[in-house]
Amino acid sequence: MREKRAIIDAFTDLAPRYEETVDSELKRFWGWSYDGFIENLINMTPLNEDDVVLDVATGTGVIPRKLIARGKTRGKIIGLDITLAMLQKAAGRLAAARPEVPVRLTCASAMGMPYRNEHFDVIVCGLATHHLDVPLVLSEMFRVLKAGGRLTIADVGGSAAWRKPVWNFLIRAATFLYFLPKEGRARALSEAAALKNVYTRKEWNEELIRTGFANVKIEELPASHFWAPTPLVIRAERP
Ligand SMILES: C[S@@+](CC[C@H](N)C(=O)[O-])C[C@H]1O[C@@H](n2cnc3c(N)ncnc32)[C@H](O)[C@@H]1O
Repeated sequence: MREKRAIIDAFTDLAPRYEETVDSELKRFWGWSYDGFIENLINMTPLNEDDVVLDVATGTGVIPRKLIARGKTRGKIIGLDITLAMLQKAAGRLAAARPEVPVRLTCASAMGMPYRNEHFDVIVCGLATHHLDVPLVLSEMFRVLKAGGRLTIADVGGSAAWRKPVWNFLIRAATFLYFLPKEGRARALSEAAALKNVYTRKEWNEELIRTGFANVKIEELPASHFWAPTPLVIRAERP
């Protein structure tokens, strides 16, 4: 509960400057621009014209806007996020872009999605699974995907060493201390707490298979610093 509050407080504070902040963080740690990282996620997500798409933890709605701008789908797009301020920003940006494709925004938790079973053809999720309970969100994603539905996740990947208590403590402390002066207490707490949700390739593979997903493909993206956690693109299908 405290962690959920910290996440909402952090992203409420971040909403007005989210896209610029993430762009500079991704450039610093990975050498990726935010725009390039999201473009890559979209390029790695095959879409049919009338697919119904869910963007989990949509934030300011960059993924829906890009999907529309790139003409990737003419179906319905739904963006879900727990932070109202992020969705308000998304709504403003979408209204200004006047998209031809309808985008609906839902304020709810990804761990209990207010959608019926087998509703979506495609689910995407960018830079957010580290804030989510991975087994729970994967089971929700599986539930709301249609048979044959596709999932693409792009986020930070972890190292097995981080599960060792000493490393875990040190990385959590370093994360907290990095974000505290720049971004304040709520962001520092939520980024430090996120470490437990940063899965290795092997952990992602095991959890996806355990949930019931098939055709799992996990790719490491290049990053500019050897010490930086690896960016991953994770793809899977509901059989
Ligand atoms: C780093 S942002 C990513 C936003 C967007 N996907 C993007 O690519 O820019 C993480 C987002 O996850 C959202 N979030 C965190 N916990 C959530 C939850 N339990 N359910 C839904 N959204 C959540 C936050 O509100 C925030 O908007």
